[in-house]
Amino acid sequence: DSITVFAPATVANVACGFDIFGFAVDNPGDQITLTISPEPGVRIKDIIGDEGRLPRETGRNTAGIAIQTYLKQINRTDIGVDVILRKQMPLGSGLGSSAASAVAGVYAINELLGRPLPIVKLLPFAMEGERIACGSAHADNVAPSLLGGFVVIRSYQPLDVVRIETPATLFCTLVHPDIEVNTKDARFILKNEVSLKNTITQMGNVAGLIAGLMTPDYGLISRSLVDVIIEPVRSILIPEFNEVKQAALANGALGCSISGSGPSMFALSRDIQTAEKVGAAMQQAFLSVGITSETYVSEI
Ligand code: HSE
Repeated sequence: DSITVFAPATVANVACGFDIFGFAVDNPGDQITLTISPEPGVRIKDIIGDEGRLPRETGRNTAGIAIQTYLKQINRTDIGVDVILRKQMPLGSGLGSSAASAVAGVYAINELLGRPLPIVKLLPFAMEGERIACGSAHADNVAPSLLGGFVVIRSYQPLDVVRIETPATLFCTLVHPDIEVNTKDARFILKNEVSLKNTITQMGNVAGLIAGLMTPDYGLISRSLVDVIIEPVRSILIPEFNEVKQAALANGALGCSISGSGPSMFALSRDIQTAEKVGAAMQQAFLSVGITSETYVSEI
């Protein structure tokens, strides 16, 4: 018995919603193949496309740990699983690479066993993958990768996840510059305290973005895609951040910010023509300082 599953990349935070907002894109993403084996235990047989950089040891691999924790939970450690992971996205990119592998793994094993758990119950296992990859079990990449669409993590304890309706036409431009930012480092540099003034501004934008997506109201979405807490700190890790953002806005994007912990940047647009134009302008801005990049346009 064998199964192959694809899990998509995700944009976490979505400007104002640090650790609580995320949405899935069409591509890139990761593919995993699981094969049942007579020998109990989870084994990473092969990883293709990571240039040998990801851990092959099951307990240190995001997909491996997610599958292992899942099998323990459902009392099926008697099962043997061989894993082949095809990384089809860059590492350390802010595109939710570790999350996509964990989600693909846990989704695949649950399907292979005839779906003993409902899909939403798979989240905690995928979050375990995040914990070993980035040192924190945040859900804003795994939840949208697993459930699709735009997701709000209303609470972590207990876990409370809500899917939000998005406008019939809304496009995401993702630009991945060829540099790497480690999520652990990008979390470490954040301040632990936030001023009341910034909290009020951020809460207004969080509420405004959700209302804007659900109404839908593009003007409100645009005004709400603002982050006064995280972006000012993390943007120093991204060369030409301000220029790239200005290029997106000048070409008609509704808003632009860091994708997850960076260095990728995302922009939202009303139509695909704008989304493509925005991508070209952002790429050009990176290129002006010699940084090459890759662009992905998806409908949300
Ligand atoms: N919310 C997480 C962070 C996402 O910004 O650190 C990491 O991809």
